[in-house]
Amino acid sequence: MLTREENQFLTQVGRGTPGGELLRRYWQPVAPSGELTAEKPIKAVRILGEDLVLFRDTKGGYGLVAKQCPHRRASLAYGRVDDEGIRCPYHGWKFAASGQCLEMPAEPKDTPMLNRIRQPAYPVQKLGGLLFAYLGPDPVPLLPRWDVLAWERGKRWIDVQSVLECNWVQAMENSVDPSHLYWLHGVTAHLAKSVGHYEEGHEFLPFEYGIMKRRTTPPKKPGDKPEIDQHPLLFPNTLRHVSKSKANGAIRHNLQFRVPVDDTHTQVFVVYFEPSATERTGGDADVPFAPFHVRDEQGQYRLDQVLVQDAMAWETQGGIADRSVENLGSADHGVALYRRLLKEQIAAVQKGAEPLGIVRDPKINRLIEFDVINERIGLSTPETQAVA
Ligand code: FES
Ligand SMILES: [Fe+2]
Repeated sequence: MLTREENQFLTQVGRGTPGGELLRRYWQPVAPSGELTAEKPIKAVRILGEDLVLFRDTKGGYGLVAKQCPHRRASLAYGRVDDEGIRCPYHGWKFAASGQCLEMPAEPKDTPMLNRIRQPAYPVQKLGGLLFAYLGPDPVPLLPRWDVLAWERGKRWIDVQSVLECNWVQAMENSVDPSHLYWLHGVTAHLAKSVGHYEEGHEFLPFEYGIMKRRTTPPKKPGDKPEIDQHPLLFPNTLRHVSKSKANGAIRHNLQFRVPVDDTHTQVFVVYFEPSATERTGGDADVPFAPFHVRDEQGQYRLDQVLVQDAMAWETQGGIADRSVENLGSADHGVALYRRLLKEQIAAVQKGAEPLGIVRDPKINRLIEFDVINERIGLSTPETQAVA
C-alpha cells in the first residue's frame, strides 16, 4: 500500500514531475520507422504528456518537434516536408529537425525573429524497425542496441497495440507479478494444468539493466531436473521475453515497450525476432508492422490472447490504480521490489545522478544480449549471435 502522494510520485510522467524526469533519461520508441513514407511523412505523436510531430524529410532524415506552431499555434501535423525540415500549413514558417526556424515567408528577409524562434525539438534514432526519441537533458545517452533490436540473423517484425487506458506502471508491475500467471493466463497458456496452484521458486535478481526474473519449476517426479525460465525486466519500462510459435514451432524473442503516452494512457510496441539460418534483417532496416487490437469490433476484450488478458487486467485497475487502498500479499514481493527500485532511481535523478541502465560506452553497445532461458520451450542456453 502507498500513500496517495507516493502513488503520484511513482506514476506521473509529465515534464518536471519526479517520475517524468526519470523516464526522460531513457530513449523511448515513438513509431515503426516504416510508418513514415514519402506519401505520408508526418505523424502526430503524444509521449510523456507532450504533443509532438514526427516527420521524415525528403532526404530521409527524421525529426520530432512540438506540435503547435510558435507563430499562431496551428498544428504542424498538417504541414509539409522538404529536404530541410517541416513547414507549418498556415503561414509557411519552416523548422529544421533541430527546431531552428529556417523561413518566415511573410516577414522581411532580415527579420531578427528568424534566429530567435526555435521550436522544442528532440533527437530521433532508428533501430530494429522503430524510431526512438530522447526527451531528456544533455548529454544524450546511446540508444541501447538490445539483442532483439540489433540481431541480424533472422526476421523481425512489430505489433503496435491499440493505446491502453491506464498508467504505464500497471503494465510494469505485471511483469514482476508471477502469481497472475496461474489465474489470468491459466485458461489459455501451458499453465492451464496448474490453475490456481501458485508455485514457489520465483526469484527477482537486480542486475545492471533492471531485474532478472527466474522461475524454477520443481521436478514433476523424482530424478527429473527442475525447469528454469528466466528473462529480464529492462528498467524502467520494457519486458524482454521469449515464446514458441504455435504456427511453426520457432523460438520467438520479443521486447515489449510500455511507452507512457500520458498519466492515464500507455502505448505498447512489441518487437519480435525469430532466429533463422536463411533470413537476414539489418538493425537499421524498416520491418513489417501491424496493428494489434486488444478489443474486437463490439468493444470486447479478445481474451483468448495472452497479451490481451494482461491489458484487460491493467485497464480494469483504473486510469491510475489507487494504491492507497490495495493490500499486497507475500506473493507480491516482485511488485514491492520494482516499486522500491523505481523510487530509488527517481531519487537518484533528483540528486543529479545517472539512473540504472543508461548506456554510454560504444564498445558495450555494439550488441547487448541477455541471458534468456526457457527450458519448457527448448531454450536451455541463451541465444547469442555476432553482429555481421
Ligand atoms: S501558425 Fe504556423 S506559420 Fe502561422
Ligand atoms: Fe501476464
